[in-house]
Amino acid sequence: MAELPERNLALELVRVTEAAAMAAARWQGRGDKEGVDQAAVDGMRSIMATVEMDGIIVIGEGEKDEAPMLYNGEKVGNGKGIAVDVAVDPVDGTTLTADGMPGALAVIGLAERGSMYAPGSLVYMDKIAVGPEAAGMVDLEAPVERNLTRVAKALKKDINDLTAIILDRPRNRDYIQAVREAGARIRLIRDGDVSGAISTVREETGIDILLGIGGSPEAVIAASALLCMGGEIQCKLWPRDESERQYALENDLDLDQILTTRDLVDSDNVFFAATGVTDGELLDGVDYYANGARTHSVVMRSRTGSIRFIDTHHDLRKLKVLSAVEYG
Ligand code: FBP
Repeated sequence: MAELPERNLALELVRVTEAAAMAAARWQGRGDKEGVDQAAVDGMRSIMATVEMDGIIVIGEGEKDEAPMLYNGEKVGNGKGIAVDVAVDPVDGTTLTADGMPGALAVIGLAERGSMYAPGSLVYMDKIAVGPEAAGMVDLEAPVERNLTRVAKALKKDINDLTAIILDRPRNRDYIQAVREAGARIRLIRDGDVSGAISTVREETGIDILLGIGGSPEAVIAASALLCMGGEIQCKLWPRDESERQYALENDLDLDQILTTRDLVDSDNVFFAATGVTDGELLDGVDYYANGARTHSVVMRSRTGSIRFIDTHHDLRKLKVLSAVEYG
């Protein structure tokens, strides 16, 4: 394992997610998903270049041939200091932002070099995530009702007091059905299961468990946050077809392995930052006013367990002069 960074890098990373969120939020409601993503990538990348780290993107916008920036394998940071793996999602919820819907976040996770799981081009994982009280009580392969019973017991609730958050997709139909049959409540979301996983830790969201098949990169990012907050995520690669099965075989990706939080990010020193793009339960989105903007972020570090909520006022007149980022 590489030398651990002594300083709290997450406090620098928040500048990265703030930049992504401020750039992306200008595109809110314009119906242009690509515009949202491009603005966020540009914002994130330009500030990331100033962070003192020798970073490699392990979870990024995809392989180099389809993602010109923040692609998997790209070197990021100023190249000095600690060697780290970096997981980014410039906007988790690009369609939400394009449609002006709540719940989009700019996120980044960081841990020692070699600690993050790389799912290659297998884009989906089956997932279950819970907060600290129910950590250790769930099993991805157990029936939904059994998991709900155990979570309810851990939280000293009845099953019908529980709320499961599930991505609203046809592939999650069986989960939805099973939760309904068990008598728990459901929050269906259009997008944004990183925020969904983190919600299980925050009591005020009323969410107790995340279930269902969502993005693989988002699983690694969620694991970074849950390692900081004491929650748990278990996942399994979910190939869509025979060619993805074949890809897994050729690339040594075990389709039967239950990936634990530590399998996804094997580190005791994880840094995580997120900034709200659109308003959500976890974080408010970007507010604009005359010549300024306000952002709402959370910054965490697993080693110390610190979780900071940071509200920042940005003077856009000054930033226009100082920064290469287009904040609009
Ligand atoms: P992006 O905004 O980064 O595209 O991701 C949104 C998201 O909803 C994730 O939160 C989720 O894990 C994934 O997409 C689900 O994928 P799909 O939309 O293909 O079902």
